[in-house]
Amino acid sequence: MAKGKTATVFFCQNCGYESAKWMGQCPGCREWNSFVEETVNRAPYGTGNPGKGSAGAAAAAPCVLSEIPVRSEDRISTGIGELDRVLGGGIVRGSLTLVGGDPGIGKSTLLLQVCRNLSEGTQKILYISGEESPAQIKMRADRIGHFTDRMLLLCETNLDKIAEVIRAQKPQTVVIDSIQTMYCENVSAAPGSVSQVRETTGVLMQLAKGLDVSVFIVGHVTKEGTVAGPRVLEHMVDAVLYFEGDRHASYRILRGVKNRFGSTNEIGVFEMREQGLTEVQNASEYMLNGRPENASGSVVACTMEGTRPLLVEIQALVCHSNFGIPRRQTTGTDFNRVNLLMAVLEKRSGLQLASCDAYVNITGGMKIQEPAVDLGIVLAVVSSFKNRALNPRLAAFGEVGLSGEVRAVSQARQRVAEAEKLGFQTLIVPQVCAGDCQKNSGIEIVGVRSVQEVMERVF
Ligand code: TYD
Ligand code: MG
Repeated sequence: MAKGKTATVFFCQNCGYESAKWMGQCPGCREWNSFVEETVNRAPYGTGNPGKGSAGAAAAAPCVLSEIPVRSEDRISTGIGELDRVLGGGIVRGSLTLVGGDPGIGKSTLLLQVCRNLSEGTQKILYISGEESPAQIKMRADRIGHFTDRMLLLCETNLDKIAEVIRAQKPQTVVIDSIQTMYCENVSAAPGSVSQVRETTGVLMQLAKGLDVSVFIVGHVTKEGTVAGPRVLEHMVDAVLYFEGDRHASYRILRGVKNRFGSTNEIGVFEMREQGLTEVQNASEYMLNGRPENASGSVVACTMEGTRPLLVEIQALVCHSNFGIPRRQTTGTDFNRVNLLMAVLEKRSGLQLASCDAYVNITGGMKIQEPAVDLGIVLAVVSSFKNRALNPRLAAFGEVGLSGEVRAVSQARQRVAEAEKLGFQTLIVPQVCAGDCQKNSGIEIVGVRSVQEVMERVF
C-alpha cells in the first residue's frame, strides 16, 4: 500500500459536507451539530486503495460504441413483477442498486425474496449480512420459502474479506445488508460514518463493474429521512429505490428515485404478510378499500405514479374556526398547495373559507405531489364546506391554476381507463383533455374549464 498522508477532517453526517474545522451548522444542508471528526488516509488516488481500479477492470483502452454487444439477457427478472417495473424491466448485470428505507420496513425481506427467486434459476447468489446471524437469517428464510444450494450466506462486515469472497465465489448477484455496518480497514472512521460509507460503496461499485455482478446495497434511513451519508451514496450508485409506507399499515411502496437504466418515479406496491412481501396487483382497489359511503368531503382522484395510474381517496374536513387564524393541516399532500387552492376557491368562487379550519388527507398513507390531484382537493374541500356528499362513482383529475382555470394533465387516457376498470361512472376532467378521453370509453366524461364551472356542474 502506498504511504499516504493521514489528515483529520470533519464530515457532516447528514449530507457528507467536508470541512477542515468543526462547525456548529453545516453550510451544505443547514443541519445543526452534525459534524463528526474522521481521519482519512489521503493516498494518491487509485494507488493505495484496494478496489480502486484493482477489481479486475480492464486496462484503459477506448472501445467502439457501436460494436459493444448488448444482449437481451442483460436484464434479469427478479421474479417479482412490481420490483422489475421499478428497476426498469429487471436487474441489469453489473449494476449497483441502493435500497433505502426505515428500519423494519422490509428491505431485508424483499431482498431475501429476490435471492430466493434468482437462485431458483441458474444464478449463484451471495447474501452478506452485517446485522443478523446465520440462524436469524435462516429463521426469516424459512418463512419465505425454500432455498436452493445456489444461495450462499456470509455474515461479515470487513469489506476487504468480503471482496475476497466475491472474487473467489464469483456470484452473479450480491446483497450487502447493510452498508452502514460495513467497513474498510484502510479507513479509520467508524462504520456508518460518511467516509466509511463512501469508501465501501466505491469498492462495491468497482467490484460490480469489474466482475459484472449485480450488487444490492441496503441503506438505513436516519430519522431525518435520509440515508446516512445520503448524497454521497445516491450519486455513486446506478439506481436508488426507497421503501416507504406507514409502519402501521401492512402495505409498502417501493419508489424508484434514481435509475440509470430506466425511468424514475415508478412505484411498486407490496403487502407484508406472514410469508413475506406479496405484490399488490390492483393498487387502486387497495387504496380505495374502506371508503365511507355518502360522506361529504370525500372524493377520488386519478394520479399517475410513473407509468402507472393510481386512484386515491382525498378527504377534506372544513369547519368553522374558533380562532382568528384558521388552522390548516395536510397529510400526504403539499401543505402550501392546499392553502393556495383554498385561496383560489375563495377568490374565484366566493366561498368564505378564510374563517374555516381545513384538514386535507390522502388516505392510505400515500404521498402525492402531482398537480393532477388539485381538482380532487378542490372538490373535497367544497363538498365538506357545503356538507354535500358527492356521487361515490365520481372521480376527478386536473391541475388548477391561480385564475381558477382547470389545466390539462398528461396521460389522461390511462387515468380514464383505470377509473373505468374500477367501476366509476362519471369523470371530471379538464376540458382540453375531454375529447381525447371520450374516445372509446364507456364512462361519462365531464370536461370543465374553470373552478366555477366545476361548482355549477357538480353542486
Ligand atoms: P425486515 O426485512 O427485517 O426490515 P429491514 O431489513 O428493512 O429492517 O422486516 C422486518 C419486519 O417485517 C418485521 O417487523 C417483521 C415483518 N415480517 C413479516 O411480517 N412477515 C415476514 O414473512 C417477514 C420475513 C417479516
Ligand atoms: Mg434488515
